[in-house]
Amino acid sequence: MSDVLAGLGRHRLVPVVVLDSAADASGLADALVAGGLPVAEVTFRTAAAVESIRVMAKRGDMLVGAGTVLTPEQVDQAADAGASYIVSPGFSREVVLRCAERGVLALPGAVTASEVMAAVDLGVTTVKFFPAETSGGAAAVKALAAPFKDVRFVPTGGVGPKNVRDYLAIPSVHAVGGSWMVPRELIASGDFDQVRRLTADAVALVGR
Ligand code: 3PG
Repeated sequence: MSDVLAGLGRHRLVPVVVLDSAADASGLADALVAGGLPVAEVTFRTAAAVESIRVMAKRGDMLVGAGTVLTPEQVDQAADAGASYIVSPGFSREVVLRCAERGVLALPGAVTASEVMAAVDLGVTTVKFFPAETSGGAAAVKALAAPFKDVRFVPTGGVGPKNVRDYLAIPSVHAVGGSWMVPRELIASGDFDQVRRLTADAVALVGR
């Protein structure tokens, strides 16, 4: 297992971040680190993603990845900015292959057995189960995990304080992703104290 994957497995939570301005990246990083969760999946849903990844990766004390990565070009942008893992909502052969070329961990989305098999064919060991809740939730992860003994899952989408422990109780679940500890509005308004509190609560809830 790669160091990055092992790190994500240790923290068990992957905050899924939307930053409207790269000026907020440093404050957010401080809040996550202070809250005990030095991890961020910075989504390519805003123009601030690349610069935010650069700011966070430069610190050297966080596991910084890119999320919502849809194209090989975005893999390059994220890797150039210092991202060490690439998360996609679905499975793209081109994205996974570019991740391998760039030496960054690929976490493609997969919610069906066929998608898992396509990912495994390319050497992927861990997939993002997305969107988790509307794809059948913890029961669906369990059912999908049964035939894939060596595959690890990162359920994301609709995961929060009420159900996070259900997912983490499944042995094949490596970590879960979610945005509940990093609400976009709180980041945009600079309320990093509240982000730190939500992060610390989330860390306490999963009880590492
Ligand atoms: C993602 O991109 O992974 C999701 O938007 C995160 O899902 P959540 O906001 O329901 O946690």
